[in-house]
This record gives sequence, structure tokens and C-alpha cells, in this order.
Amino acid sequence: MSITPIGDPCQKVTVSSLREKKLRHEPIACLTAYDYATARLVDEAGIDIVLVGDSLAQTMLGYENTLSVTIEEMLHHTRAVRRGVKHALLLADMPYGSYHVSTDEAIRNAARFVKEAGAEAVKIEGGAKRADLIRQIIDAEIPVAGHIGLTPQSVNVMGGYRVQGKSLAAIEQLMRDAVALDRAGVACIYLEGIPREVAGMLTAEVETPTIGIGAGPECDGQVLVLHDLLNLTFTPSAKFVRRYGDAAALITQAVQGFRADVVSGQYPSDSESYHLPKETLAALETILERKRSMQR
Ligand code: KIV
Repeated sequence: MSITPIGDPCQKVTVSSLREKKLRHEPIACLTAYDYATARLVDEAGIDIVLVGDSLAQTMLGYENTLSVTIEEMLHHTRAVRRGVKHALLLADMPYGSYHVSTDEAIRNAARFVKEAGAEAVKIEGGAKRADLIRQIIDAEIPVAGHIGLTPQSVNVMGGYRVQGKSLAAIEQLMRDAVALDRAGVACIYLEGIPREVAGMLTAEVETPTIGIGAGPECDGQVLVLHDLLNLTFTPSAKFVRRYGDAAALITQAVQGFRADVVSGQYPSDSESYHLPKETLAALETILERKRSMQR
């Protein structure tokens, strides 16, 4: 048996290596991916956690919010991502409705992500009120990530996508939520859309690594939606989004170039075409010539 030394960049990321990172104050980098190609690129760039987020409802499927995406759609994308990820921890979002009806159904659905799609952990939105359920999913040998603050599956209850944890009462509730998830033994806690100061307090309070999105720099790690980072969302960005590339411009330029070349007859060129072997071409020409002379 060979034991990989801690800190080796080729080491497979696991739930326990994430905890070790928190202890060593090493920031954790997480990105979403929803298909094989982007999963490979994200994984090969050294990202620690690849999240098949239910944000794919909007980014990949064009739904208005995350509520409509089904478990079958999430499983389909998770399978594709699984084929592209070797190094990162593969985390999949449980969609709205897949863990809300009963504990048995939630455990069965969580197990589908592991058995049918190769996820190494699942993510569930909600804090203290989900702690018992999360404990039971963990008892079924499935690591779980928590997600508190702005939880997009609660959009109708929150009355929109608003920054959470701004009043003292809301801060106390977030603290109860984070502590409940920590005690339940989650793999990490996503903190979305909360003031930096609050995220800092929660991160200091829990032993579990926190991963922030719109939660400031004091979290143990950061996550962004890949399509936000690449300008592929067609909507104005939130304040916390930093664009690292412009895939929309790149794709538009490439597609317009292709169309122009097709319309002007410049694509494909002779060197982009397949050719017959010389002997076959000569034989074909002889046959065609014979046909033509018979028709004369
Ligand atoms: O669905 C998603 O992409 C997420 C992240 C924003 C944390 O849950």
C-alpha cells in the first residue's frame, strides 16, 4: 500500500483532506461544472471541489430558477461530470423536492447520486431544520455538504434573491444553523449571500470548512458558478462575481467566423477535405469518361 503525502497536488481530494486544509489555513477552491468538457478543464486546473450545482437549471437548461430541475436531469449531468473528474471531490446538489417529502425518500435519492452517477457527496440547502435528515444520510455512508444564507431553493419563501443575515436575529439564526450542521458532521458548509463579517464569525465558530459565495474573504474557501466566471449567463452579474474570461465573446466570434466562411465558400478548403487514393480516382475518371462517351 502506498500512502500519498499530505499536500501533494496530485492527491485525490476527500472529505478529510478538506478538513486538513482548514486546519492548515489553505484556501479551498470550488467551481461548478455540468458537463464532461468543462469538468475535465476545471479538474485539470487543480480545483478542489467540482460542484454539479442545481444552478444548471438556469445556466444549462434555461429555467427561470432552480426549482424546476428534476433529479433525473441532475443525475444526467452528474454522470457526465463524473467522467471528467479525477482529482477533485465530486459534489452534487440534491434538487428541490428530492429531500423534502420524507427521510426514506431523501436517503434513497442521495444514494442514487452515489450509485448511479458517481457523486462523492451531496449538497442539501437549509440549516438546523435539516440537521436530523443530514445525520441520517451520513449514517447511510453518504457525505453531505450544507448550504445556508441565501438558499436559492427557498426563493419563494425569501421573496427574491436577497442578502441574508443582516439583522441580529438573522445572525443568531445563521449561527444556530452553522453549529447544527457542524455537529451533524457535514463535509463543508456553503455560505451564500451573507455579510462578510457574519461569514467570518461562522467560519471561526465551526470546525467544518466553509465555502463562500458572496460571503467575503474570511471563508475557508470560495465557490463561483463557472458560467458567471466565463460570462455565459445572459443576466447582469451579482456584486461578488469576478469575470475571469469572456466565453460569450469567444463563442460569438468563432460562430460568426464559421458562418461567414460557409456563406462565402471559404470553408472547407481542399486541405480540410478527404481525398480518394490516386489509383481509385484514376479508375473512377475512366468509368465516368466511358459513360460520357456512350451518351454522346
Ligand atoms: O447550484 C449552485 O451552483 C450552488 C452554488 C452557488 C453554491 O449551489
